[in-house]
Amino acid sequence: MDDTGQERRPPLPTNSVLGRSIRTFKPRRSRITKSQQHAIDNPLDLLIEYAPEPLATINDWPPTETKLFIDIGFGNGITTLDLARKNPCNSYLAIDVHTPGVGDLLHEIQVHGMTNIRVMESDAIAVLENMIEPESVSGVFTLFPDPWPKARHHKRRIVQPSIMHLIHSRLVPGGFWQLATDWQEYAESISEQFEAQQDSWSGGITSRPERPLTHYEQRALTEYRTITDFSFIRR
Ligand SMILES: C[S@@+](CC[C@H](N)C(=O)[O-])C[C@H]1O[C@@H](n2cnc3c(N)ncnc32)[C@H](O)[C@@H]1O
Repeated sequence: MDDTGQERRPPLPTNSVLGRSIRTFKPRRSRITKSQQHAIDNPLDLLIEYAPEPLATINDWPPTETKLFIDIGFGNGITTLDLARKNPCNSYLAIDVHTPGVGDLLHEIQVHGMTNIRVMESDAIAVLENMIEPESVSGVFTLFPDPWPKARHHKRRIVQPSIMHLIHSRLVPGGFWQLATDWQEYAESISEQFEAQQDSWSGGITSRPERPLTHYEQRALTEYRTITDFSFIRR
């Protein structure tokens, strides 16, 4: 246990897509509740540990007859839960590094007896690089990625050429990457970067898809920030 009451978690894996010390997330040490810790301590087979091996080989998941979707940075998981509930024939892999959110999502999956979600507490970039096979993912969701507003931090943004290339390679042709941001300058940067890769991607700004309102989006709206939604398709 550390001073926030959390069990020490395994170190996060590195990836070779960004530089060794560059991460797209802020390390956060938040207090964890008893129910979150209980769900993490008793994950049944819902929590997948990182290993640099293809996901299906070591976990016998997802079932081959289902389509795989990945939620990168699921927060407290309400969007993943909503998607998985509405699409019971699809499989959802939810990845975040934030331990309390991992506990919340595991708890909710167990309470509702859901079988089509698996959770990873890991760096999604390393997972995509080392556990997800090329052309195996039908869709990726990245809702409200950390905006990293300072110019010197732009190298930490999820939407940057090397990660776009990685996600493109993991999507099936015709697969999608759905994004939303509440940061206007990031929205402009996203549009510009996908425009620069028109040979690989089609799509652009869309209307807000039906999805639950997370705390994060609610706060952005309360602070009068404009939300921009995108949907890009792998050509
Ligand atoms: C601003 S929050 C948004 C959460 C949620 N998608 C929502 O809409 O409320 C961004 C989340 O992305 C996670 N994140 C950022 N980079 C990540 C990465 N490389 N792997 C896994 N999670 C990441 C952070 O830990 C954080 O929980």
